[in-house]
Amino acid sequence: MPEPRLRDFKRIVFFTGAGMSAESGVPTYRGAGGIWKEYDYRRYACQDAFNRDPEAVWEFHNYRRGLVAACSPNRGHHIVARAGQGSARVTVVTQNIDGLHALAGSREILELHGNLWRVRCDTCNIKQQDAHVVREELQCDRCGGWWRPDIVWFGDYLHEPILDAAQAAILGCDLFVSIGTSAVVYPAAYLPEYARKAGAVRVEINPDETPASDLYDVHLRGPATEMLARLAGDDPELLA
Ligand code: APR
Repeated sequence: MPEPRLRDFKRIVFFTGAGMSAESGVPTYRGAGGIWKEYDYRRYACQDAFNRDPEAVWEFHNYRRGLVAACSPNRGHHIVARAGQGSARVTVVTQNIDGLHALAGSREILELHGNLWRVRCDTCNIKQQDAHVVREELQCDRCGGWWRPDIVWFGDYLHEPILDAAQAAILGCDLFVSIGTSAVVYPAAYLPEYARKAGAVRVEINPDETPASDLYDVHLRGPATEMLARLAGDDPELLA
């Protein structure tokens, strides 16, 4: 199949993982320099750890906030955002919690795994959205309990309405571009199947092969910024 060009499609879904933000300096989870090689998610990124030792979880969480706060959207994030400002309808379905798609100007974003900058109190059923900064106030001002990072941790269920919206967007798309995901975490890893059902052209952007590679028509084996520039072709609107 010839390499597609974004301008030829009307309904595009970008499905992004940690590799989308790698060139912004945000560490990925797996592979070289992956976070889970340094930190055991069972101690820092799951509900049991939070119930057992909320201070350790917050220390890790604020460490990550500090890292990501120093990172900006890369050229790939900007191409994705600009694709959504043209005639095509664009939905970003992201596993990333870093907030860089929104910072780049993407509007229709479905965050499958939550958001690094948002916290919630499950006792008071309230949420707070922070700027891209480390959080000082760790106790809910209403009940005094610990604010919980509003992230889908291992063992958590995804937020059904967001997953349903992602599936609906993919079932209606004519181009599905997966960028920088190792395709090993479910149910997100199942989403390319919906693109196959939709009959969409399916592109995988990843320097490496993944367990989902067979589901794609086109494989762009390189970094997100360069491969997205190739999909943008010579369209000055997208490459500004
Ligand atoms: N451009 C594109 N892809 C890249 C780049 C890059 N510059 N650098 C690395 N990659 C690819 C890697 O080859 C790998 O396949 O990005 C992928 C990153 O994989 P993971 O670190 O596993 O990230 P992801 O797939 O998003 O993880 C899914 O797992 O830990 C949970 O909730 C967490 O959302 C996360 C989920």
